[in-house]
Amino acid sequence: METPLGETPQALVAHPDNAIVWHEDRLFLLDQRALPAEIRFLACQTAAETAHAIKAMVVRGAPAIGVTAAYGVVLSVRDHFQRTPADWRPGVEQDLELLAAARPTAINLFWALERMRRLLAALDQLDPVPALLIEAERIHRDDIAANRTMGDLGAALISARTDVITHCNAGALATGGYGTALGVVRSAHAAGKIGRVYADETRPWMQGARLTAWELQQSGIAVTVQADNVAASLMARGGIGWVIVGSDRIAANGDVCNKIGTYMLAVLARHHGVRFMVAAPTSTIDLAVASGSEIPIEERTADEVLSCGGTRLGPEGVDAHNPVFDVTPAELVDVIVTERGVIEQPTAEKIAALME
Ligand code: MRU
Repeated sequence: METPLGETPQALVAHPDNAIVWHEDRLFLLDQRALPAEIRFLACQTAAETAHAIKAMVVRGAPAIGVTAAYGVVLSVRDHFQRTPADWRPGVEQDLELLAAARPTAINLFWALERMRRLLAALDQLDPVPALLIEAERIHRDDIAANRTMGDLGAALISARTDVITHCNAGALATGGYGTALGVVRSAHAAGKIGRVYADETRPWMQGARLTAWELQQSGIAVTVQADNVAASLMARGGIGWVIVGSDRIAANGDVCNKIGTYMLAVLARHHGVRFMVAAPTSTIDLAVASGSEIPIEERTADEVLSCGGTRLGPEGVDAHNPVFDVTPAELVDVIVTERGVIEQPTAEKIAALME
């Protein structure tokens, strides 16, 4: 399903900001399963390949899978329009469903598909591909711009130089570029406000140990990887001013769904007087779900937990629980940073006002 590249084109430089690249009419994804040990790009030529790449975690992170799916729609329309110019829409409809089924939790995927779907409905010109490509590129560009704005807004909230904890990877790799939580870290670091970032390793996919550590190292930001169960003693020791994380979906009441283990950090942060920041674009806010309990939580295979780095750890025949995300209640969130502004102590009223 995936096409490994023979020779890497010049445009595909190994950098976290290049997780998703549209180049010479093809979609290239930096394969996040292999990082940082191996830098390789995969080319997607069809919507089915794109959906598979999202499902298989070649590309991951809420905004990144939205941007990727938007390009997947371009590939779909190009494919069906070339094959059946007079009747291309039914094939595209099927591909939209395939892309939507790739992962269930991050709302950005459905948000991006909805934007592409709206444009599709409005198109009547002969060749629909150019307009759709412009829209996908706009979704991509807007996400980077939103991240830069959030970086500035989030950094402004950090009053003095401090160490921080982050969980999973909410960096350039997880977005169109720059990052949400790590965008705040990048901007705050540029302002001299970040001492060290403690990156939870984030079992079982190790997004923290592999991706966040790599990204921060590339940006020259001091990073220490820690096992997921270290956070409590680190906070108790002192010196941590903030926990800064991203989100896959924020409910209308401000409950925050993010990588499994985020809720645990929020409880710990409140207990230790550490502030808890969520950085996420408004495309992550889902007003259609009243509270976090309505958000579908992806479950992945037991094998991901029972194995590590390809080595089986658990005994054969034993089961494992592998929910991929959890929900942090709004009352444990000190601030949500979006590109439209900052919400302190989020409530349904404040979220509704922001989204008006
Ligand atoms: O399973 P993943 O790696 O896609 O999970 C990603 C996260 O949980 C991120 O924290 C979230 O998508 C925010 S990314 C800016």
